[in-house]
Amino acid sequence: MEEKLKLLAIAGSPRRGGNTDLLLQGVMAGAKSGGAEVKHLVLSELCIAPCRHCDKCIETGRCVVEDDMQWVHAELREADRLALASPIFFMGLTAQTKMMIDRCQALWVVKHVLKLPLPTNRGRGRKGLFISVGGTRGPKLFEPAKATVKIFFKTLDFTYSDELFFRGIDEKGAIAHHPTALREAFWAGQRLAQD
Ligand SMILES: Cc1cc2nc3c(=O)[nH]c(=O)nc-3n(C[C@H](O)[C@H](O)[C@H](O)COP(=O)(O)O)c2cc1C
Repeated sequence: MEEKLKLLAIAGSPRRGGNTDLLLQGVMAGAKSGGAEVKHLVLSELCIAPCRHCDKCIETGRCVVEDDMQWVHAELREADRLALASPIFFMGLTAQTKMMIDRCQALWVVKHVLKLPLPTNRGRGRKGLFISVGGTRGPKLFEPAKATVKIFFKTLDFTYSDELFFRGIDEKGAIAHHPTALREAFWAGQRLAQD
């Protein structure tokens, strides 16, 4: 029997039960209904220090900072699908999300300096979904964060395949009152679970 697709769902908001958390839950439910195996990481509950730019990873591809990022690296390499959720903070990603991304410099080294294969998911295609919300409504609200997520996905060999963006969502849980958002999240999860 074919192994299930593995979805790694990463919650980047410091607010548990907030808007991006609810959207990510919808995505996970959709992906499970589509047959995927789902692993949920909540960055605010992990111990992840910022990148020190010590350049020690340049020789080995391994980060010398011994914290939760060591096993998160392995999860990122193993996943077939990635759903990354972060609200907009000062026009960018949350600090928790950006710290996790910056610590992937060691994986950038594996790929671009050591020229070794990065994914360990047995050659299955890799797709990524970016989920975000912001309290305001500007037309360019998601652009800076999207640029960062795109280069992050590209570095890790995930195709940027889908996005879920909602403007004007500020209060905790406000997304639950949006007419379609949680259904859209469920459908995005189902799409992600497809080959
Ligand atoms: C530190 C901070 C910075 C924020 N910066 C922005 C911003 O630049 N633009 C915006 O539209 N909303 C901004 N917001 C509002 C959040 O994006 C909004 O409340 C969002 O719904 C939070 O999502 P969450 O519930 O998933 O944490 C900011 C909120 C905080 C706490």
